[in-house]
Amino acid sequence: MSSHPAVYSLSFNSSVDNTFYLSSIRFDDINRIEKSRVDAGGKGLNVARMLNILGYPCEALTFLGGPNGKILKKLLEEEKVPFRYVPIKENTRSIFNFIAGKEVLRINEKGPLISKKEKDAFLNLIYSLKISKGDIVSISGSIPPGVEKDIYREIIKKVKTKGGIVVLDADGDVLEEGIKEKPHIIKPNLWELSRTVRRRISSFRTLKNILEYLVSHGMSNILLTNGEKGAVLFSSTHFLYGRPPSVKVLSTIGCGDTFLAGFLYGYCKNKPQEECLRLAVAAGTAKVLKEGTSMPERRDVMEILKKVKVVNASERTILPFF
Ligand SMILES: Nc1ncnc2c1ncn2[C@@H]1O[C@H](COP(=O)(O)OP(=O)(O)OP(=O)(O)O)[C@@H](O)[C@H]1O
Ligand SMILES: [Mg+2]
Repeated sequence: MSSHPAVYSLSFNSSVDNTFYLSSIRFDDINRIEKSRVDAGGKGLNVARMLNILGYPCEALTFLGGPNGKILKKLLEEEKVPFRYVPIKENTRSIFNFIAGKEVLRINEKGPLISKKEKDAFLNLIYSLKISKGDIVSISGSIPPGVEKDIYREIIKKVKTKGGIVVLDADGDVLEEGIKEKPHIIKPNLWELSRTVRRRISSFRTLKNILEYLVSHGMSNILLTNGEKGAVLFSSTHFLYGRPPSVKVLSTIGCGDTFLAGFLYGYCKNKPQEECLRLAVAAGTAKVLKEGTSMPERRDVMEILKKVKVVNASERTILPFF
C-alpha cells in the first residue's frame, strides 16, 4: 500500500442542505423560522469536506446541475474542497431540515433524473481515475432517479480489480446490492444494518453473529454507528467500542459522514485501529456541535478526541447498545 493513499469520495446525489431552526414543529399551525442556513450536503461531499478540513486531501466526484448545482459549486469552492463533476440538465436536489430542540424533520427531494448519457459520463470519470494499490474510493448515499440500484456493485468490482480499497455508506436496496460485491469497509448505523440483514438486532449475541458473518464473507472492516451511544469497529482482529463524550446537540445531520472521514483520516495515516475509531467518534461528535450541515474545524475534532474512550468490546457488558 502506498504510504499516502489517494482518496476519492463519490456522491451520486449531492444536495443543497437548507436547515431551519424553530422553537417547535406543529401541524395545522404556523411554524415560525427563527434561524436558517444553507450548506453543501450529500454524504459523499460531507466526507470530502471533513477529510480536507482534517488536513488529508480528498477529491469529491459528483453531478451538478441547475440553480442548485451553481450554489453547490460555489459552496465547495469557498470551502476549498477539490472536486470534479459531470454537468446535468436537471436541478441538483434540495434537502430541508427542520430542527426544534431534539425534534428533527428531514425532507429530502429524490434527486434529479439522470440521463443515460450523464450516468455514462460519470462512470467514465470514475473509471478514468488513476487508482494505485491501496488508494481509496468511498461511495456514499442514495442514488438519484435514472440510476440503477446496483450501480455501486459495478463500481466496487472495477475499483477492487485495480487494487483500490472501497468504502460504502448507504442504506436499503443500495447497501444490500453493494455488499454483494464485498466493499472493504462499510458504515451502517444500527437501523441500516438491521434493515439490510432483515433481522431485529436486540442483543449482543445477534449483533456479534451478524458482524462475524459479514467479516467472514469478505468485508474487512465494519463501522457500526449508533448515535450518541457511540460506535463499533469490527474486523477479523478487532472488536472495539468507541464512546463519545456527552455534548450539546445542534444538528446531527452528517455526523455519520464526518465519522467516516475521521476513520479514513486515521486509516490513511496508518494509525492503529483503536486510534482510527477514536478519530471517527471524535469527528462524528464534533459535527453534532455545529449547526445545519456545517463542518467542525480540525481543532474542534482534536479537542473532542481527548474525551473519546475506546475499549475492547468482546465482552457483552461493555457495549451499551441494548
Ligand atoms: N447525540 C450525539 N452525541 C454525541 N455524539 C453523537 C451524537 N449523535 C451522533 N454522534 C456521533 O456521530 C457518530 C455517528 O452517528 P450516527 O450513528 O447518528 O450516524 P448516522 O446515522 O450514519 O448519521 P447520518 O447518516 O445522518 O450522517 C456517532 O458514532 C457519534 O460519535
Ligand atoms: Mg449514515
